[in-house]
Amino acid sequence: PAPKPKKRFRFLRWGWRLTWLTGVGLTGALAFEIYAQRHPEEQFEPDPEKKTLVILGTGWGSISLLKKLDTENYNVVVVSPRNYFLFTPLLPSCTTGLIEHRSIMEPIRNILRHKKATVKFYEAEATKIDYEKRVVSISDDSEIKGDISHTEVPFDMLVIGVGAENATFGIKGVREHSCFLKEVGDAQNIRKRIMDCVETAMFKDQTPEEVKRLLHMVVVGGGPTGVEFAGELQDFFNDDLKKWIPEIKDNFHVTLVEALPNVLPMFSKQLIDYTESTFKEEEISIRAKTMVKNVTDKYIQAEVTKPDGSKEIETIPYGLLVWATGNAVRPVVRDLMNQLPAQKNSRRGLAVNEYLVVNGADNVWAVGDCAISNYAPTAQVAGQEGAFLGRLFNTMAKTEAIEKELKSLSDAQSQAKSDDDRNQVFDEIRERQRQLRRTKQIGPFQYSHQGSLAYIGKERAVADISWLSGNIASGGTMTYLFWRSAYLSMCFSTRNRFLVAFDWIKAKLFGRDVSRE
Ligand code: FAD
Ligand code: NAI
Repeated sequence: PAPKPKKRFRFLRWGWRLTWLTGVGLTGALAFEIYAQRHPEEQFEPDPEKKTLVILGTGWGSISLLKKLDTENYNVVVVSPRNYFLFTPLLPSCTTGLIEHRSIMEPIRNILRHKKATVKFYEAEATKIDYEKRVVSISDDSEIKGDISHTEVPFDMLVIGVGAENATFGIKGVREHSCFLKEVGDAQNIRKRIMDCVETAMFKDQTPEEVKRLLHMVVVGGGPTGVEFAGELQDFFNDDLKKWIPEIKDNFHVTLVEALPNVLPMFSKQLIDYTESTFKEEEISIRAKTMVKNVTDKYIQAEVTKPDGSKEIETIPYGLLVWATGNAVRPVVRDLMNQLPAQKNSRRGLAVNEYLVVNGADNVWAVGDCAISNYAPTAQVAGQEGAFLGRLFNTMAKTEAIEKELKSLSDAQSQAKSDDDRNQVFDEIRERQRQLRRTKQIGPFQYSHQGSLAYIGKERAVADISWLSGNIASGGTMTYLFWRSAYLSMCFSTRNRFLVAFDWIKAKLFGRDVSRE
C-alpha cells in the first residue's frame, strides 16, 4: 500500500479534490445549460380572454422586457423587421471580420420558444400606430412576400422599442454615398467596401492621387461609434492588411472628423486626452472642429474652425466614408408624436413619464432610443428600462388576479351562512389585501449607471466606471481586458459567448480574412 502523505501535505490533496470537484460541477452546469437551450419545454397557449400586449422591436429594450415578462399573463405579440437580437457593442468588430456577425446575433425564435406561454412573432415593420383605433399597421418588407404583406394588429397594451435611425441632419449626399454602422448589413457593407477600396487602389496604372484617395478611410462623428470603428480599422491595417498587401503601407490612412473640439464628449477629460494621444500613436488623424456640410461620391466638404475663430471650407477626398453622427427619430414614432397633443414639444423622441408611459397616451409605453428620458441613448439604459417594464407588467397581472379574488371573496363573505365561515373568509381577505399591498409596491423607473466603456484600438480601451458613490476613470491594456471580459459576459447566450471567444482566438491565430465577398 502507498505510504500515507505527511500530515502537512494532506491539505494539498484536499485542494486538488476541491479543484477537481469544482471543475466537474462547472462543466456539468454548462452541459446542462447547453442541453436546456437545445431542448425547450412544451409551451401552452395563454387564455384568449387576457389582454393583448404588442411589443415593437427586438432590440435591447424589447428583449430585456421579454426576458423578464411572464408571458402566461398576456397574449404577447412581437413585431420587428429583424428576427434576431443584435449585441451592438461588438458590431464595430464585425466591420473588419474580427468577429463574424452571426456570433453576436441571437434568433428571436430561440428566445420566444423558451418562454412558458407562446408568443406570436411577425417579421414586419410597424408602419403606423393608430392610437385612437388602438391598432398597429404592419408591413412585410422582406424579399419574399405572401398574398398578404400588409395588415393590422390590435392591442390593449403597446410597448414601443423601435430604437432610432441614423441622423444625417439633412446633409446632401450622406444617404447616397456613406455607410452607416447600426445594423448587421451595415457592418457587412463596410467590410466589403474596405477590401474593394484596397483592391481598386491596386488596380493596374491607378494614378498616385487616386490611390491616395481610395485608401483614405474617413469616419464622420467622434462619438463612441466613430471612435471604436476607427480603432478597429487601424488594427485591421496594422495586424493584417499591411502584411498581405504591403504596397498600401504608405497611403492607407484613417481620419476621424468631429464637429466639436474633442472626441468622446461623454467621457472624462483625462480619458479624452488618453484617447487622442493613443490615436496619435496609432497614426489616426483627428480633425476636430470640422463640421461636414456636403458629401459627394469622392469627397466631403467640411467647415473647419481655425484657432483664431475664422471658418474655412475644406475638401477632403475619401475612398470609404463611414457616417456615425448619432440618432434620429424613426418615421413611425414621429407620426405617433404628431397624433398626441402632449408630445408637441418633443423633438428627439417620445416623452415618457417615470413609469415609461408615453405622455398623453393610455397603456402605451416606450423604451430605449425612441424614448426621451433623462438618460443617454445606450444599451445599458434600454436594457434596464425593458427589465423594469417586464417587472411592472408581471406586477400588474398579479394585482389584477388578486383584485379579482378579493371581489369573489367579498361576495362569498356576504353570502356566508355562519360566523365561522364568515371569519374564515375574512382571514383570507386580510391575507389577499396584504399580498396586494406588497405587489403594488413597485416604484418608478430608476436608472443605475454602471459606467461607460469604449475600445480605442491597439488593444486599449477607456472606461468610466461607477464605483460605490464615486467614479473610476481608466484607460489602457488592462482596461481592454476588462472591456473584453465585460462584453463577453454580457453576450446574450452561452452560444454567443462561445462564438465570440472562438472568433477572437481564430483572429489571433490566423489573422483576419482579407477576401472580399
Ligand atoms: P435597438 O436595439 O436599435 O432595437 C430596435 C429594434 O426595433 C430593432 O429590432 C429594429 O429592427 C426594430 N425596429 C425598427 N423599426 C421598426 C418598426 N418600424 N417596427 C418594428 N420594429 C422596428 N450602448 C451601450 O450601452 N454600450 C455600447 O457599447 C454600445 N455600443 C454600440 C455600438 C454601436 C455600433 C451602436 C450602433 C450602438 C451602440 N450602443 C451601445 C447603443 C445601443 O446599441 C442602443 O442604445 C440600443 O441598441 C438601444 O436599444 P433599443 O431597444 O432602443 O433599440
Ligand atoms: P453620438 O451622438 O454619441 O456622437 C456623434 C458625434 O458626431 C457627435 O460628437 C457630434 O458632434 C458629431 N457630429 C454630428 N454632426 C456632425 C457633422 N456634420 N460633422 C462632423 N461631426 C458631426 O453618436 P454615436 O457615436 O453614433 O452614438 C450613439 C449613441 O450610442 C450614444 O448615446 C452613445 O453613447 C451610444 N454608444 C455607446 C457606445 C459605448 O458605450 N461604447 C458605443 C457606441 C454607441
